[in-house]
Amino acid sequence: MTLSIDLARPEERPVLDNLMQLYIHDFSEQWAGMERGELQDDGLFPAYPLDGYWSEAARIPLLIRVGGKVAGLALINDHSHSGLPADRNVAEFFVVRKHRRGGVGTAAAQTIFSRWPGLWEAAVARRNLPALPFWRNAAASHPGCRGVEEIDVSDEHWNGPILRFRIEPAA
Ligand SMILES: CC(C)(COP(=O)(O)OP(=O)(O)OC[C@H]1O[C@@H](n2cnc3c(N)ncnc32)[C@H](O)[C@@H]1OP(=O)(O)O)[C@@H](O)C(=O)NCCC(=O)NCCS
Repeated sequence: MTLSIDLARPEERPVLDNLMQLYIHDFSEQWAGMERGELQDDGLFPAYPLDGYWSEAARIPLLIRVGGKVAGLALINDHSHSGLPADRNVAEFFVVRKHRRGGVGTAAAQTIFSRWPGLWEAAVARRNLPALPFWRNAAASHPGCRGVEEIDVSDEHWNGPILRFRIEPAA
C-alpha cells in the first residue's frame, strides 16, 4: 500500500468539497429524525465550511491518497472540545468505503501525528461510537504516544468521548 498524506493546495479545494459530500452522507445515516443532514434542491449537502484552511496557520487541510488515488481527507485545527489546552485537533477524518478496514486510516492518522507532534485531541460523537476503537488504537499504538486520556463530555458544545494524547517528536 503506497499511502501519501498531502497538504491540499488551494486549487484542490473542490476535491475536499467533493469528499465532504461523501463524508456528510456517511454521517447522515446517524441523523434520522433530526433536522440536519437534508439535501439541498440540487441534490448536494450544504457545503462544509472550508474557509480558513488556506489562510489560518492552525488549520491544516490534508488529502489521503492510496496508490496515488484520492482515498480520504483529514482536516486538522487547534480547537479544543474539552476546553483543556491542545495543540492539534482532528476536526474531520475520512477514509472512503472502498479503502476501509485495511489499515489506511491508522497509517494516515499516525503519519499525521508524527508530522505534527504535540498535544492532540480527537473527539468522537456519541452517535459515531464505532470510531472510538479506531482512535484509541491509532493513538495508543503510535510509537511516540505518551498515554491516552479519555474524557466523556456531555454539554451544549459536545456529546461523546474525547481522547487526549501527547505525541513526542521522533528522536
Ligand atoms: C473511522 C475510519 C476513519 C476508519 O478508517 P479505516 O481505514 O477503516 O481504519 P483502519 O483499517 O486503520 O482500522 C483500524 C482499526 O480501527 C478499528 N475500527 C475501524 N473502523 C471500525 C468500525 N467501523 N467499527 C469498529 N472498529 C473499527 C478496528 O479495531 C480496526 O482494526 P481491524 O480492522 O483489524 O478490526 C473510517 O471508517 C471512516 O472514514 N469512517 C467515517 C468517518 C468517521 O467516522 N471519521 C472519524 C470521525 S471521529
